[in-house]
Amino acid sequence: MIPSLPPAPARHALRGRAITFGANPFLDDPARALVHEPDALILIEDGHITRFGAFDALHDTLPPDTPVTTWHDGIISAGFVDTHVHYPQLPMIAAYGEQLLEWLERYTFPTEARFADADYAAGVARRFLRELLRAGTTSAAVYCTVHPQSVDAFFTESARLNTRMIAGKVLMDRNAPANLRDTPQGGYDASLALIERWHQHGRQLYAVTPRFAATSTEEQLDLAGSLLRQREGLFMQTHLSENLAEVEWISHLFPRRTSYLDVYAHAGLVGPRSVLGHGVHVDEDTFHTCHAAGCALAHCPTSNLFLGSGAFRLFDALDPRRPVRVGLGTDVGAGTSLSQLQTLNEAYKVAQSTGRRLHPAQAFWLATAGGAHALYLDDRIGTIAPGMEADLCVLDPHATPLMAQRAEQCETIEDLLFVLMMLGDDRSVRATYVAGQLVHDRDAPEAAGARGAGHITSFT
Ligand code: GUN
Ligand code: ZN
Repeated sequence: MIPSLPPAPARHALRGRAITFGANPFLDDPARALVHEPDALILIEDGHITRFGAFDALHDTLPPDTPVTTWHDGIISAGFVDTHVHYPQLPMIAAYGEQLLEWLERYTFPTEARFADADYAAGVARRFLRELLRAGTTSAAVYCTVHPQSVDAFFTESARLNTRMIAGKVLMDRNAPANLRDTPQGGYDASLALIERWHQHGRQLYAVTPRFAATSTEEQLDLAGSLLRQREGLFMQTHLSENLAEVEWISHLFPRRTSYLDVYAHAGLVGPRSVLGHGVHVDEDTFHTCHAAGCALAHCPTSNLFLGSGAFRLFDALDPRRPVRVGLGTDVGAGTSLSQLQTLNEAYKVAQSTGRRLHPAQAFWLATAGGAHALYLDDRIGTIAPGMEADLCVLDPHATPLMAQRAEQCETIEDLLFVLMMLGDDRSVRATYVAGQLVHDRDAPEAAGARGAGHITSFT
């Protein structure tokens, strides 16, 4: 656990190689969309980036006495964005043998039942957020459980860390064990109370969270739609067309709806800030509706491979003629890693299996700026630029002997990023900053949270 979090120095700067994005590499030439600054200076004031550019051009302009932390051999990036993950499933990651519906019954529901205990929930929330920061992920859209105390536990820890997180109470009033079911009105009331407590409380944001159409009655979905209209800026998250048996079941549960997505659209759940997990088995009409509605799909490749769900058609979703917003999700505990680098590794392979090539600039865009865009948070997170919140990670392409020898062969930044996404994981995250505060230092864990952390190499 992070021992204590003194306020970040009001003003400090980072120096090192940096990458970010000036355009969408799925719409523009990827190599041009990638902004690479081999020796960058990032000035951070009161948790925000206020200047970014070449060190040589900027260092004379720094205010006097600005501490500068230099990250030799690191690559500074915007912090990663995970658009779909279940924190209560951390204890059951890597559960053997089943596909989606059996996996939910056998492993997921019993695990989530433990979150009736608020102390247990608090412990898992702390471990989960610690792991996310170790992976370089600074924002996520997170499912809690049906228990309101699981949401309080999560937001309490996120508020302490000052991370920008989206989360919500799962709504589930049928097709689940009795100890995990709410009722349409009970779920509504509990969600509204949580919205009052947490939505836009500091950096915290609330997501109305019907688990999926199979575990909510039509009445509950309609009430979820009306919850969304109670406050500005609320999110909605659920699952869509992940597994063929699930898709078949939904068509029987909602025979009057024209598609799986139509079940949610009919309840007023599909629009900007709606995040639909998976979308593996969807047709062109659904992509078109997603584009027109402005909702997002969360691509969760490690989960889709682990559960044998199928291959998401990333490049079809992103078709420039009607691009759908897409972010990356780890989907732990069906996903097998909280690392966005590992997630990109599998995303690359899934794209290959559909005959497409995921360029490293496209990959890192999805993990940062693209995720922020999918969540309509790209004016605050996901890129390194003046005005953005200073959520950053420092990547180490030499983290293991194998990576180091491979990195030595790299001639371009694209090559280096590809090595990171194919061979990297939490070991290649050297440090993580949240709102300008160092919250993870791989090589000096005790220093995280302490001012400066021993890397300050100069003062202006
Ligand atoms: N569909 C409904 N619930 C879940 C869940 O917890 N994980 C995944 N992967 N799919 C789901
Ligand atoms: Zn999920």
